[in-house]
Amino acid sequence: MSTIGYFRIRLTTLIGTSELPFNVYILIDEKVILYVKAGDKIPKQKILDLHAKDSGESFLLAVKDKEKYQDYIRDLMNSSQFPDSEKAIILKESSIAILEDLFDNPDVKQALAESRPIIADLINFMNNAPNEMGNLITLSGHDFYTYNHSFDVSIYSLGLGQTLGFSKTELEELGLSSLYHDLGKRLVPLEILCKKGSLDDNEWVQMRMHPQFGLKILNEYDNISDAIKAACYEHHESWAGGGYPQGISKHEIHPFGRIVSLTDTYDAMTTQRSYNTPMKPADALNLMNGNLAQRYDPDMLQAMYSVLFKMKKEAA
Ligand SMILES: [Fe+2]
Ligand SMILES: [Fe+2]
Repeated sequence: MSTIGYFRIRLTTLIGTSELPFNVYILIDEKVILYVKAGDKIPKQKILDLHAKDSGESFLLAVKDKEKYQDYIRDLMNSSQFPDSEKAIILKESSIAILEDLFDNPDVKQALAESRPIIADLINFMNNAPNEMGNLITLSGHDFYTYNHSFDVSIYSLGLGQTLGFSKTELEELGLSSLYHDLGKRLVPLEILCKKGSLDDNEWVQMRMHPQFGLKILNEYDNISDAIKAACYEHHESWAGGGYPQGISKHEIHPFGRIVSLTDTYDAMTTQRSYNTPMKPADALNLMNGNLAQRYDPDMLQAMYSVLFKMKKEAA
């Protein structure tokens, strides 16, 4: 889609009753057309009607209005007009809209900086509405290099970090690290990333390079934290050793690497992709706690049960 200078949003994220502080555009026949002027409102019923007809993916905002959009969503999160369950969906959809744009940004440092407020908003929401964490998960069918996967891994990691007693600053770093754990997949050919079915030996070699690729990309910038680098480089290590790329074990692996290895596998197992059937949350966790248990930090694995309990997913 050639909509440079714009990013897609879901109209349902504009459900607040105040006037819109930005223009909303609509994409018709590949043309961007002004839909609602700044200062106007879209009646809630109209949003719901349009949303029912359309997947809601052809509405756009100008990239220059991104911060105004984030402020608008923040006000909505602080208002008492909507139930927490509705707020969770609005926050998820607005975050994904902004991340979609950032995930293609060749300037990784800028992408990290602009992702930080999204993580901070997610942490605030999780503190204010701890029972709504499950509604933040997209669970959409996705391939592993996408922002949907990364977003879900980030939410699970935040839940795990919270249960493990991390401070707000640590959580922010953890959320951000998890969001970019597969950054190195930018350098893996798309036909390998998107291949339906199993990879051959040579393709596996390239796929398994993504932690090194991620570190290489991050090392091109100054002042990227060791934690962010570790999540990228160490999330395929195994508690018992024998993971990749380094084959390190136990506490040699950075805590963020241990967390993401767990939340990444959990998300892979429970998400529908074109070529697999998703496992039920409880089955996935039991497998990780059974045959695969030696791969994960045992304390973190136990904490993951509480996270899922909180998410009310155990009965799913
Ligand atoms: Fe990975
Ligand atoms: Fe991943």
